[in-house]
Amino acid sequence: MAKKLFVKTYGCQMNVYDSARMADVLAPLGYAEATRPEDADMVILNTCHIREKAAEKVFSELGRLRVLKAERDGALIIAVAGCVAQAEGAEILRRAPFVDIVLGPQTYHRLPEMVAQAARAGGTVLDTEFPLEPKFDHLPDARADGSAAFLSVQEGCDKFCTFCVVPYTRGAEYSRPAKAILDEARKLVGQGVVEISLLGQNVNGWHGDGATGGTWGLGRLVRELADINGLERIRYTTSHPNDMDDDLISAHAQVDKLMPFLSLPVQSGSDRILDAMNRKHDRAFYLGVVDRLKAARPDLALTTDLIVGFPGETDADFQDTMDLVRQVGFINTYSFKYSSRPGTPAAGMPNQVPEPVKDARLAELQALLWDQTNRFNQQSVGRTMAVLLDRPGRYPGQLTGRSPFMQPVHVDNASDRMGQIVHVRITELHSNSLAGEAVASERICA
Ligand code: SAH
Ligand code: SF4
Ligand code: F3S
Repeated sequence: MAKKLFVKTYGCQMNVYDSARMADVLAPLGYAEATRPEDADMVILNTCHIREKAAEKVFSELGRLRVLKAERDGALIIAVAGCVAQAEGAEILRRAPFVDIVLGPQTYHRLPEMVAQAARAGGTVLDTEFPLEPKFDHLPDARADGSAAFLSVQEGCDKFCTFCVVPYTRGAEYSRPAKAILDEARKLVGQGVVEISLLGQNVNGWHGDGATGGTWGLGRLVRELADINGLERIRYTTSHPNDMDDDLISAHAQVDKLMPFLSLPVQSGSDRILDAMNRKHDRAFYLGVVDRLKAARPDLALTTDLIVGFPGETDADFQDTMDLVRQVGFINTYSFKYSSRPGTPAAGMPNQVPEPVKDARLAELQALLWDQTNRFNQQSVGRTMAVLLDRPGRYPGQLTGRSPFMQPVHVDNASDRMGQIVHVRITELHSNSLAGEAVASERICA
């Protein structure tokens, strides 16, 4: 009988990509995907360590899985993967001895051996090394799931912002060679993918072996990807302001397939806090990068990541962040309360900000952002946008897709257009989405 695998993903898009790849690795062993743990023979929790809450969720989920496993007299393989696994390693097996496999983000190509080892009586596997051979050399071809796909091109981080665990959980920066990326992109397009999002913890720091020799930067890679017939949209996420070089900025002016929407994390608008965070740039530098990007692509819209309540953040520092948000006009953000992470330099800094202060600042920031998102969405009404219809809508005949700016757009009478990019005239604004009508049938870029 076929076996079933359930993967639960926490955290960032890199984890979403990794989860899909873990399923690819296990497919040859006969594992088909299950939609809930109750139907599965194996469960993988692909975990995130970025904030305390994210890490805690894993242990409560493990509590539920322990009950399920006991009900089945142990006939359930439980694996903990991802960044909590990397950070906590053997501690997970100590706290949750019913777990069979603990594996880090760099070793999941070895999952088949780990499963075999775990199947032997009492076998428990811990594999959180950073192998010298990159896992990408050992993974099977990616399987496309729909018309938009993620493609991991860069992993790890050497920047060591003082609040962040990623350099410890994902290891040193690694860039996949261009040829491997272009091959994977062509295979995805061959399976019907029209939009590819390049992924990396510092994706614009990608500097891989070029397909024609030498080293390429991300701007060159984007241009090469744009030459692939059938690939209509390219995105990349997430970027560091210091790695935004001239060539990549000019790609925004020259490559129509590169979407005019960019995630460029800034974390804070205060120079003092940026310095304490070890971001290695100041506010003026960030604004300069934004100006250059907007000069290259005037309709470019930006989103960012922000942290409130970093140690030592005063009201004035926080107001600098609010001011920067207004000045750039971000149309969206991922904003978080600072969460102290064991082993990071900021965890030991004086003047930790009290929780109620963080709560109030986050609420104020999110209210401003809600306003800015709403304003941008309002301005979209009456415009015609290229929408990639990639999901069923809420009603029969309706499809939902994404605009170039990642806004969800609902389109009625469109059921025969799944997977296509269509011109949509935006007619309505809902609370978190737009609605409109298809106005032309040709496939277009942006
Ligand atoms: N490489 C990217 C972001 C990776 S982590 C960058 O340089 O910005 C994703 C986001 O999580 C970060 O942008 C940050 O806003 C948030 N984050 C990371 N560590 C955090 C912490 N200790 N507390 C709160 N938010 C954190
Ligand atoms: Fe974390 Fe900073 Fe690296 Fe981003 S650049 S992953 S925030 S250490
Ligand atoms: Fe979380 Fe690891 Fe991503 S800590 S945000 S899953 S890189």
